[in-house]
Amino acid sequence: MLDERVTVHVQTGRNGYDVRVGAGGIDELTVLLPRLAPAHRYVVIADDRVASIHGEYLLGVLARTNRKVDLLTFPSGETYKSRETWSDLSDRMTSSGVGRDAAVLAFGGGVAGDLGGFVAATYMRGLPVVQVPTTLLAMIDSSVGGKTGVDTPAGKNLIGAFLQPRLVVADTNLLRTLPAAELRAGLAEAIKHGAIADAAYFDWISDSVEAILACERAAVARLVARSVEIKADVVGKDETESGPRKMLNFGHTIGHAVESLSEFRLLHGEAIAIGMVLEARLGERLGVTEPGTTERLAEVFSRVGLPTELAEDLPHHGILEATRSDKKARQGKVEYSLIERIGRASPASGTWALPVEDALVLAALEVHPAR
Ligand SMILES: NC(=O)c1ccc[n+]([C@@H]2O[C@H](COP(=O)([O-])OP(=O)(O)OC[C@H]3O[C@@H](n4cnc5c(N)ncnc54)[C@H](O)[C@@H]3O)[C@@H](O)[C@H]2O)c1
Ligand SMILES: [Zn+2]
Repeated sequence: MLDERVTVHVQTGRNGYDVRVGAGGIDELTVLLPRLAPAHRYVVIADDRVASIHGEYLLGVLARTNRKVDLLTFPSGETYKSRETWSDLSDRMTSSGVGRDAAVLAFGGGVAGDLGGFVAATYMRGLPVVQVPTTLLAMIDSSVGGKTGVDTPAGKNLIGAFLQPRLVVADTNLLRTLPAAELRAGLAEAIKHGAIADAAYFDWISDSVEAILACERAAVARLVARSVEIKADVVGKDETESGPRKMLNFGHTIGHAVESLSEFRLLHGEAIAIGMVLEARLGERLGVTEPGTTERLAEVFSRVGLPTELAEDLPHHGILEATRSDKKARQGKVEYSLIERIGRASPASGTWALPVEDALVLAALEVHPAR
């Protein structure tokens, strides 16, 4: 028997696309692809790890479309989200004669999604892309919203393009093979969605941590669907990140700094869990955030098994430096997208981001009185 599947519609300008969420969703591609991304040839872009675990299954489903299907892989890991991999994939496509009548399926975590999306955005001035996310983070975050791109030595995601997918299929069965640490890290983004937009969802996650980490079908489907709704709602209001979309950056100004200072030993979700706790503390000190919010966030993160404090060996001043090199700075002050309370982002007079003095940030980072 098939489990219930949910469709979340994402509106972007005049167009829009559906995100199909639920167990076994990949099987629907046989029907959905010809309708929503008709093509004579499908190019699947996946990292080698996802390809070895789930590639055969996906190819079996795609074979039923009676179209030529190519599987192009690259080595797993953020290091390969690069211009080199982009050019290698594009060259493999030109040499095997992929033309304008093809469509790309980006199959994997956020790396495959961003990279596959960017190949699609640029190949022969643009092919349609379908996102088939396989990590929790990719299902609830990177596959929705249309941002694609690659990293450069100067920073992450510095080269890219907006390309909205024709369809997103989040098959929650795939999460069963995901390493536990990756699942926990993805959950940090879901908790963020609750924190910025839906207090009842935040409470439900908090009560369902065990079921989610055990990958119970109903719990995971509800999690992905509600998070996608929240992200879709925010992105639908602001496709190019000039206003309300900034609320998705809660925890990310400090989070990105912590992530890069850890030299990427911390997963993104782990770093933003620390970032959310510290930015909530900053918000409380500024009088923007309701007192007690920091504690509530820290409590749920520790039950998930996510870090909530800066590691002893990360220097505070280094973090401040690193926040400055992030893209979020205005009038020399670094900007923070804060929350007013659990379930509500701070509109900050319509800018959705507040420039904050360094001294106040440093004070919020002062968690180890000994230093
Ligand atoms: N485009 C956006 O809006 C957006 C938003 C957030 C993050 N991102 C990007 O997403 C990337 C991070 O994504 P990620 O955390 O998914 O990392 P990832 O794509 O590297 O995947 C993490 C690891 O899990 C493995 N994996 C994936 N699915 C699996 C499965 N079902 N079973 C077993 N193993 C599996 C991968 O091979 C990889 O080793 C970053 O590059 C980040 O910049 C983009
Ligand atoms: Zn994030």
